[in-house]
Amino acid sequence: MEKATTILSEEHKHILKVIDSITKECEKIENENNINKEFFNKAIDFIKNYADKFHHVKEENILFKELCKEEVEGKMHCNPTQQMLHEHTIGREFVKGMIQSLEENNKKKLLENAIGYTNLLQDHIFKEDNILYPMADEVLTEEKQEEILVACEKAEKELFEKGTKEKYIELAEELSKK
Ligand SMILES: [Fe+2]
Ligand SMILES: [Fe+2]
Repeated sequence: MEKATTILSEEHKHILKVIDSITKECEKIENENNINKEFFNKAIDFIKNYADKFHHVKEENILFKELCKEEVEGKMHCNPTQQMLHEHTIGREFVKGMIQSLEENNKKKLLENAIGYTNLLQDHIFKEDNILYPMADEVLTEEKQEEILVACEKAEKELFEKGTKEKYIELAEELSKK
């Protein structure tokens, strides 16, 4: 049976591609005066819509909520969802900082926020892939898994029109080839 955590983990791969491309771009502009605004605008578009809207919303509104239900939470030795939510919030602050620094043409601020974001997300995704998702798979019954999967599919349809998901996956490819 397909699990929501498998789908979410697949999404991490696309997010990590963009994270890597941002890291590379940051290394590049460290020695240059010009900021490649086109690159950063595209990367921010991906982060805001795919990573934050499409991916994080499914975690926050569906998977994490299920894990916080008494009968499920009771089976876990700890519940990392609060920490994960906190990291989503910090991530959003870094993205705001990136947008501001592009408007201000402030390279130092852009690098601080972009590097802050990439470090945070790499660590965050590692924790979800290796701790939270395996824990979820352990404590969720098959019935619950099925419910979560259906809820995720429904959310996807509400969040993105047909073809939008594919558009962002292509964008991740494009950015990673730069
Ligand atoms: Fe997350
Ligand atoms: Fe995630």
